Amino acid sequence: MKITIFGATGGTGRSLVEQALERGHEVSAVARDPSSFPYSHDRLTVLRGNALDADSVEGAVEGRDAVLSALGTGFHLRRTTLYSRGTETVVRAMEKQGVGRLVVVSTAGLNGKDPSFPFWYRLLLKPLLLDRVKYGDMALMEDETRGSSLDWTVVRAGGLTDGPPTGEYRVGSGRLPEGGAEISRSDLARFMLDLLDDLDYVGRTVTLAY
Ligand SMILES: NC(=O)c1ccc[n+]([C@@H]2O[C@H](COP(=O)([O-])OP(=O)(O)OC[C@H]3O[C@@H](n4cnc5c(N)ncnc54)[C@H](OP(=O)(O)O)[C@@H]3O)[C@@H](O)[C@H]2O)c1
Repeated sequence: MKITIFGATGGTGRSLVEQALERGHEVSAVARDPSSFPYSHDRLTVLRGNALDADSVEGAVEGRDAVLSALGTGFHLRRTTLYSRGTETVVRAMEKQGVGRLVVVSTAGLNGKDPSFPFWYRLLLKPLLLDRVKYGDMALMEDETRGSSLDWTVVRAGGLTDGPPTGEYRVGSGRLPEGGAEISRSDLARFMLDLLDDLDYVGRTVTLAY
């Protein structure tokens, strides 16, 4: 399959690239600074691109079978619009280029009613801080994805950790699987790649954790 990966230089993105190549896919990795990209492979093309720039995004998705997005801002508390604007740009480009399959990373923390999160998170931290700086924009990203004409899946990840892929995760719909809280970036990547062959998840928002 021909796949384009946004956020390819990040933790999840690099694992997506590695595992996609292991599976035999032809990979286009989008990087704002390609010179910093750590891999080379005969089935890998590293493209200079910015998710906020429609021209570079259109060029990156043209002729592809699927797009995986692990765009993110890293950890900081500044207000962002990257998630909504970047995803809108990707969605419009895919619709224009006739590319159907999109898998987008979001966060389990968006569900303010999930009892897996402690009350202080649901009543204080999320509404007073996280929604304002980041999660409000991630919610717009999800709306943009769900409102598209694409074959989309939104994957809300639990807290991201580093570690090897195990395949031992559980998939919740709407809330974290009972007792689950974390997921490694590599298992998140593994699940996202599995979704490319699994049409049962098209049009669904799911939550991933161990
Ligand atoms: N941390 C957690 O516990 C947690 C939990 C649930 C979900 N998530 C979400 O999971 C996703 C992946 O997280 P991660 O830690 O693996 O990611 P990350 O390491 O923070 O990587 C983010 C990626 O987005 C890219 N990016 C940022 N702005 C861009 C732009 N304008 N155009 C193109 N690329 C851009 C970065 O590229 P550069 O190298 O150019 O900066 C980088 O490749 C994020 O959406 C995050 O919010 C995180």
